[in-house]
Amino acid sequence: MSEPRQILVTSALPYANGSIHLGHMLEYIQTDMWVRFQKLRGNQCIYVCADDAHGSAIMLRAEKEGITPEQLIANVQAEHSGDFADFLVDFDNFHSTHSDENRELSSLIYGRLRDAGHIATRSVTQYFDPEKGMFLADRFIKGTCPKCAAEDQYGDNCEKCGATYAPTELKNPKSAISGATPVLRDSQHFFFKLPDFQAMLQQWTRSGTLQDAVANKLAEWLDSGLQEWDISRDAPYFGFEIPGEPGKYFYVWLDAPIGYMASFKNLCARRPELDFDAFWNEGSKAELYHFIGKDIVNFHALFWPAMLEGAGFRKPTAVNVHGYLTVNGAKMSKSRGTFIKARTYLDHLQPEYLRYYYAAKLGRGVDDLDLNLEDFVQKVNSDLVGKVVNIASRCAGFIHKGNAGVMVAGDAAPELTEAFLAAAPSIAEAYEGRDFGRAMREIMALADRANAWIADKAPWSLAKQEGKQDEVQAICAQGINLFRQLVIFLKPVLPLLAADAEAFLNVAPLTWNDHQSRLENHQLNPFKALMSRIEPAKVEAMVAASKEDLLAAEAQAPAGNGELTKDPLSAEIEFDTFAAVDLRVALIVKAEAVPGADKLLQLTLDIGDERRNVFSGIKSAYPDPSKLEGRLTMMVANLKPRKMRFGVSEGMVMAAGPGGEEIYLLSPDSGAKPGQRIK
Ligand code: 2FM
Ligand code: ZN
Repeated sequence: MSEPRQILVTSALPYANGSIHLGHMLEYIQTDMWVRFQKLRGNQCIYVCADDAHGSAIMLRAEKEGITPEQLIANVQAEHSGDFADFLVDFDNFHSTHSDENRELSSLIYGRLRDAGHIATRSVTQYFDPEKGMFLADRFIKGTCPKCAAEDQYGDNCEKCGATYAPTELKNPKSAISGATPVLRDSQHFFFKLPDFQAMLQQWTRSGTLQDAVANKLAEWLDSGLQEWDISRDAPYFGFEIPGEPGKYFYVWLDAPIGYMASFKNLCARRPELDFDAFWNEGSKAELYHFIGKDIVNFHALFWPAMLEGAGFRKPTAVNVHGYLTVNGAKMSKSRGTFIKARTYLDHLQPEYLRYYYAAKLGRGVDDLDLNLEDFVQKVNSDLVGKVVNIASRCAGFIHKGNAGVMVAGDAAPELTEAFLAAAPSIAEAYEGRDFGRAMREIMALADRANAWIADKAPWSLAKQEGKQDEVQAICAQGINLFRQLVIFLKPVLPLLAADAEAFLNVAPLTWNDHQSRLENHQLNPFKALMSRIEPAKVEAMVAASKEDLLAAEAQAPAGNGELTKDPLSAEIEFDTFAAVDLRVALIVKAEAVPGADKLLQLTLDIGDERRNVFSGIKSAYPDPSKLEGRLTMMVANLKPRKMRFGVSEGMVMAAGPGGEEIYLLSPDSGAKPGQRIK
């Protein structure tokens, strides 16, 4: 037996300002399956992650919601952790980049880089928002494209003509935060001298650490010469202040990958058998793998190994890159309902359906993966329910009825037993190489053989014949043994199915090597259905709910649903604009849930001379809508009517708060009358 390997694995750290969707989940499921495979094989494999909590987007979103960034990241961390747990993504630790460990390690790494001469400083001229008092990242500047004159384009590229440019080239630039015209201002920035590591990176990127397609892409950068990397941002910024440099902060991408180390360090404090240095010091024997999407390769395969090398730490063993998720052949779309949040999926479907579908379609490469919803239903039902679970449900009943649930000894199909044993190394090799699709194909080919053999033996016919009981028992015991082997092979992908199967089989948690043994003279527990078919109606309901997520977001945030649009809270308006808003006291006559809508309430509002129908995304705060009836609130009465899926919304009620349970409908003082204007 070879020594167990020591392996540390990470997935990219999700930003702490948004929900996890099925595109994110592709990476976490891919990584989790690989980690579970390693653990099943008996290796010491540690899987860490964290929320990526720094940066101006998070600072601005918290400000907009009227909470501190710390509160925002705590709320989001709770949401993310719940989504991951319910998708069976089993992190050893899920931490935050806004942590003591990360602050210490970021200072340490920066200090070592500076002391070794790898940090430079120089003045940079950038757009500054004079109203907001902050420098503007490119995506917070909007203006007219200098090439095609399209309006409302971001500061670094035009969505209309695809041109890329410097923000200073934009015509009529405006701050996307305040709407002010930005001014150019100088400030001192800190740079990481990436060119110092050119030779190392040239060698490292070609040493088997990256897929060929990724290494080839990076060669384009490397061959054209590396640039120094700007790692500082000026206050106000939510992040870590650079030691000894008041008002200067580490750019979020400097401390984000250090968050991998910090999460592991935080885990070491709870798990004394783990030695931080043994995993991270130069010359470490442990393996280190990062799983990431193809959009963040330069951070992980250029900047990060260079930082590690410069600070005297080990470099990654490999960076495993995957492609993007498409749904029904196209980019995920909010209006088509294919921008599906993790929670929306979980509200309708079992996590293992998606885990299996992703596994079946994931290869080693960086190609995009398409979640075709019809194929998803068909494949999961046919493979998992029709092939795998079917073996156990065909055989279990006869063993319980004919032999009190005891599996007899003996091998009724030596050629199948041999084939299953012989397939194991190849399946393991496919898992190891992240070729989950190949592993699933090989496993399903075995399931086909097992089903064909059982169909040929037809124990259900034999059971009706005199004197065939022994034969029936031998066939069914063999069937259950084959099922048990399939469960072991699928356990990294389907951990819940495996746990339920272990309960039915009446065995301790199965490990990979258990596929070499068989159950004989063994008592089974009663058989319960292990997995039900996906009903297409559930998928349709999930798509409808995803469209509704969008409607609810719009109903709550009519000025735009992204933090990058002009912030109505900080942009000044003329008095006439304000005076044009018809604000009225409204009596809630009726408040009801909307059938088929998880987030909306339908309100009938009395505004004196007329009644209005309004849809409002406030159900999460008012689960019993009837309690709102009879209450006064305030509404915008002259908002253009909006056609929604459930009807026309004729105005908007006014509420405060960040969302979820914390939505507070505004009310006038007692004495106000429906229809009165608010001045
Ligand atoms: O692209 C992203 O979503 C980043 N939050 C990923 C960070 S990965 C690591 F470097 F922290
Ligand atoms: Zn353009």
